[in-house]
Amino acid sequence: MAIEVKEQDLTFHLYTKRTSYIFTAVKNRYLAHVYWGRRIQIPHMENALLLRWSCFDVMEPVEHPFSLDYICREYPSSAGDYRIPSVEVEFEDGSRECNLIFNGYCVMEGKPEREGMPSLYTEPEDNCETLELSLVDEIKGIEVLLYYTVYEDYDVISRSVTIRNSGEENVRITHVASASVDFENSDFEMLTLPGAWGRERHIERYPLRRGRQMAGSSRGASSHQMNPFLALLDPAATEETGTVFSMNLVYSGNFTTGVEVDQVGKSRMFMGLGNEDFSWLLEAGERFDAPECVMVHSSDGLGEMSRIYHRIYRERLLRGAFKEGNRPILVNNWEATYFDFNEEKIVSLARAASELGLELLVLDDGWFGKRNSDTCSLGDWYANLEKLPDGIGGLAKKVREQGIQFGLWVEPEMVSPDSDLYRNHPDWCIHVQGRPRSECRNQLTLDLSRTDVCDFIIETLKEILSSAPISYIKWDMNRHMSNLGSAKLSAKRQREMPHRYILGLYRVLEEITTAFPDVLFESCSGGGGRFDPGMLYYMPQTWTSDDTDPVERLYIQYGTSLVYPVSAMGAHVSAVPNHQSGRVTPLKMRGDVAMSGNLGYELDLTKFTEEEKEVVKEQIAVYKNLRNLILKGDLYRLKSPFEGNDAAWMIVAEKEFFAAYFQIQAKVNPGISRIKFRGLKEDAFYEDMETGEIYGGDELMQIGLVVDLFGDYQSRTWHFCEKRLCESNV
Ligand code: DGJ
Repeated sequence: MAIEVKEQDLTFHLYTKRTSYIFTAVKNRYLAHVYWGRRIQIPHMENALLLRWSCFDVMEPVEHPFSLDYICREYPSSAGDYRIPSVEVEFEDGSRECNLIFNGYCVMEGKPEREGMPSLYTEPEDNCETLELSLVDEIKGIEVLLYYTVYEDYDVISRSVTIRNSGEENVRITHVASASVDFENSDFEMLTLPGAWGRERHIERYPLRRGRQMAGSSRGASSHQMNPFLALLDPAATEETGTVFSMNLVYSGNFTTGVEVDQVGKSRMFMGLGNEDFSWLLEAGERFDAPECVMVHSSDGLGEMSRIYHRIYRERLLRGAFKEGNRPILVNNWEATYFDFNEEKIVSLARAASELGLELLVLDDGWFGKRNSDTCSLGDWYANLEKLPDGIGGLAKKVREQGIQFGLWVEPEMVSPDSDLYRNHPDWCIHVQGRPRSECRNQLTLDLSRTDVCDFIIETLKEILSSAPISYIKWDMNRHMSNLGSAKLSAKRQREMPHRYILGLYRVLEEITTAFPDVLFESCSGGGGRFDPGMLYYMPQTWTSDDTDPVERLYIQYGTSLVYPVSAMGAHVSAVPNHQSGRVTPLKMRGDVAMSGNLGYELDLTKFTEEEKEVVKEQIAVYKNLRNLILKGDLYRLKSPFEGNDAAWMIVAEKEFFAAYFQIQAKVNPGISRIKFRGLKEDAFYEDMETGEIYGGDELMQIGLVVDLFGDYQSRTWHFCEKRLCESNV
């Protein structure tokens, strides 16, 4: 049983294999948080929860009064608690008090569906249970339903929230968190994944201080600038040791996350929808569903936290024919040709790709309307016959005749002012009536909060996908929202647009991916600007970054791997000097970095020398042999590029492992450098598949192997397979 309820004092104990999450309803009214951490028995409540107050606190009007500000709470509303509330509302009379009092609960098997929203799913063998808890503001009839689904075997608790307006008047929701957890102290460091275009998900870790420390996105997308992820760690926590508490929002739009440290050093961690550009008018009788938050606790450092996220995302978030990781090795023409291509060039790329052993060619931006630069045609999704005389159908056929599959780039959420679509529907973009529309990359954002716009996108994409044998779609999105407004929404609902946009996008994605189950979809947003669990629910891989420099990618892929599995990351080998950084690196390092993800190539393959062709053929053969292991195994990060000149990681499956080591700058007269492997069986033997040498798992983990690399931008990989040895061989 994953959920135990002690009726006499209304204590709720949620167990996963290794963790406990406990809260209680104090005086049958106020939800108080008791414990989140390593799995324990039911504690003594009088020991675990102190009901106190301090001078000047607002007291609850009950027998033996206490202060709500002084206790650790579970999904707090404001009254008498001065810390960040979980929910804020505004009633028609202008009042904002919403006093959420415990109202009842039920435990159900499985997990209720969240219609129209991405979320972790369950399979019958998971034996998942969900606790539904009802809180009400009796005066205004607002009911808040808290859902806790316990994935016992995965060590994950997912939370979501529904607000029901059971009163008689309309209410405006101005803030809603999906999860909030209080701790008695604040001896933590906070870890976030900030970034920028070309520099996504770098790791930042800093001590907590008094007050509020917030992170989030108000760009209309989960964003390059901040990932919807937050962790609090024991300051001494490392990859392998120490306590970590973490939250990740299954959402692709604006979000706010953060921590507040209060007057007596308690801390509150929360995650939810974005504030400034969010409000929602809930009419009498309506409900509002907030996105899901996935919570992971690890007592064994960041490495274990990541493996928990990776496993549940691989198995209970990714869906469809490609969830298992059977992804084709692709070539994308973007950095090979940009807009300057024709059918002949693309077919020649396909031919070269096929000869090298690649499996799919992706035609990127520039195939439609009159698009020869980024100044026009988004929205006019018909082939440019000057470049492609036989259209997409004809090109797809010719590419497939080379023995590889065909994939296509689209950017359906956007419109160019210079397009027929915009000329016909100028009100279809996000804008404020009577104000100038600011462009970014010469484009405007279509208003996906509108049903008609979403229907147009669905219809257009269905047409494209039915018109040719297309095996893969790269779904791009290249600008953030500005001039927030929708021509369709009433004045009172204008602030709903960003969230309605994301709901519209999810409807489109659900329709398209369901209608074309054999197509592999990869999401992209100027690189990794929407690398979040919401997008991964619909599309099992994301283009990690537009930055393809392998040194830069060490940081980006390392940071991304904190939460997201290797099988979610698109990683390509590109030309030198690198187009983003100007750096020249060996083809070997470019391949070794890209191999730690969904391998692809993004350069003109027809320009390879004979020697380069041999290197690439070898990379492809190696990857095909290891693909299953790389995309499905457990990741162990061994050396962080954020902490030095080297990076290393390994991926371990039941009977084999792959490891990679990277040296950024050359070292002259260096000390002895070793790679010490992890996650192996101590008493097993492993064969180095290159040298045939056999090592004990204990030796590989405790002594490791010497790594001698000479020069800048060097790398080494290993593939070991477990070996059965009879005594005499040892
Ligand atoms: C941004 C993407 O991240 C690139 O890979 C490429 O597809 C361009 N857009 C095309 O405009």
